[in-house]
Amino acid sequence: MADDDASLLEAAWEARERAVCSFSHFKVGAVLLDDAGRRFTGANVENASYNLGLCAERVALYHALTHGVGTIERVVIVTEAAEPTYPCGACRQALWEFAPGAEVLLANRHDQRRIRVSELLPHAFDASALPDP
Ligand code: THU
Repeated sequence: MADDDASLLEAAWEARERAVCSFSHFKVGAVLLDDAGRRFTGANVENASYNLGLCAERVALYHALTHGVGTIERVVIVTEAAEPTYPCGACRQALWEFAPGAEVLLANRHDQRRIRVSELLPHAFDASALPDP
């Protein structure tokens, strides 16, 4: 099957190779899969003005959102850290906003973890807390 774990992981590793991370040297690759089977990839991008950098997950997510993504069902994130790495807090918030029902697969070269976006950000803040405009 085209969208099985192995295939998505391969795409994430490939995306990771395009990371622009000359400051941290920490490459991250991400792939989103939507309900139509479309994939959107991203890698982290850094800047000499450090706070302008963007994580792989949000690069993939914002690309997906501006290129007609449907319902995001899966998120795959790969690094070569000693343990599979969980998304940062900012990415959890962004994923909650746009992919609340997604399953997340985290992997390094020899290990994997599976968790849902809803588990990554319990008690999330979102638009449900805001007054009607
Ligand atoms: N990074 C990601 O791409 N995703 C995360 O969830 C955590 C961190 C990137 C940001 C930065 O380019 C590098 O990893 C080191 O923090």
